[in-house]
Amino acid sequence: MRLKNQRVLIVGASRGLGFATAYFAMKDGAAVAINARDKKKLDALVRSLSGYGKVFGIAGDALTDSKKIVNEAAKRLGGLDHVSVMVGGYEEDTIEAPKSLEAMLANHIKAPVLVANAAVGRLNRGSSITLVSSIKGISKASPNQLSYGIGKAGTAKLVEILSSELLGRGIRINAIAPHSIKGDFEPERNWKRLRKLGDMSAPPEDFARVIVWLMTDEAEFVNGATIPMDGGLRFS
Ligand SMILES: NC(=O)c1ccc[n+]([C@@H]2O[C@H](COP(=O)([O-])OP(=O)(O)OC[C@H]3O[C@@H](n4cnc5c(N)ncnc54)[C@H](OP(=O)(O)O)[C@@H]3O)[C@@H](O)[C@H]2O)c1
Repeated sequence: MRLKNQRVLIVGASRGLGFATAYFAMKDGAAVAINARDKKKLDALVRSLSGYGKVFGIAGDALTDSKKIVNEAAKRLGGLDHVSVMVGGYEEDTIEAPKSLEAMLANHIKAPVLVANAAVGRLNRGSSITLVSSIKGISKASPNQLSYGIGKAGTAKLVEILSSELLGRGIRINAIAPHSIKGDFEPERNWKRLRKLGDMSAPPEDFARVIVWLMTDEAEFVNGATIPMDGGLRFS
């Protein structure tokens, strides 16, 4: 129970990675608030997670309601120890037609900035913030991912800047950078048979377990890091 009595908010969590992160955090003893815009999806997740401990949903848009989401989470959890922002959204574009620039910068830079801004005053020494970048933001560029790549590079840079800014307060900030997350999450399944090292993608469990580890004190000397998670594919 590495997160016993810890209070966790997961923003952008109505399926896949967010679902799995909530599950593993709860299995580790945390009380969890999950956020996304779609209340119906959140309610379904809360129903399937409620057997594992305390969990509730807060419907809202991280781009417009970040303060409300954080305040409600802190009120209902009795405080806040860890915040994970994994607002999604994937669009392809090019320099000829950068149609996704605003959306991708909003989802992958603005949302984590706004949530971190709303949460940081409530976090304490030993708290953490965890973000989700992408291999495409830190490693090999793709020609059709102009705005997404810049956005995810911004996520990784935000980790570096905030880790420096929050160092003296003992609040750590890290990220994972997946290549590809495959499918949705199902509690209790044998996910390990679904992937092997060198595969292009892996199920949400593989990524969620690293996010939860980053919250625990096992990772208390890990700060300002964006961990590539592609099973080593980028070197092959
Ligand atoms: N899937 C991949 O292969 C892959 C690869 C690399 C990195 N990533 C990153 O990993 C994270 C999770 O990926 P995913 O595929 O599970 O993402 P996703 O399904 O596209 O989005 C995750 C969640 O974000 C919520 N969301 C979107 N906009 C929001 C907003 N403004 N406010 C609050 N919630 C919002 C969505 O729920 P609602 O629509 O209900 O709001 C959804 O549940 C994302 O950051 C993604 O960019 C994914």
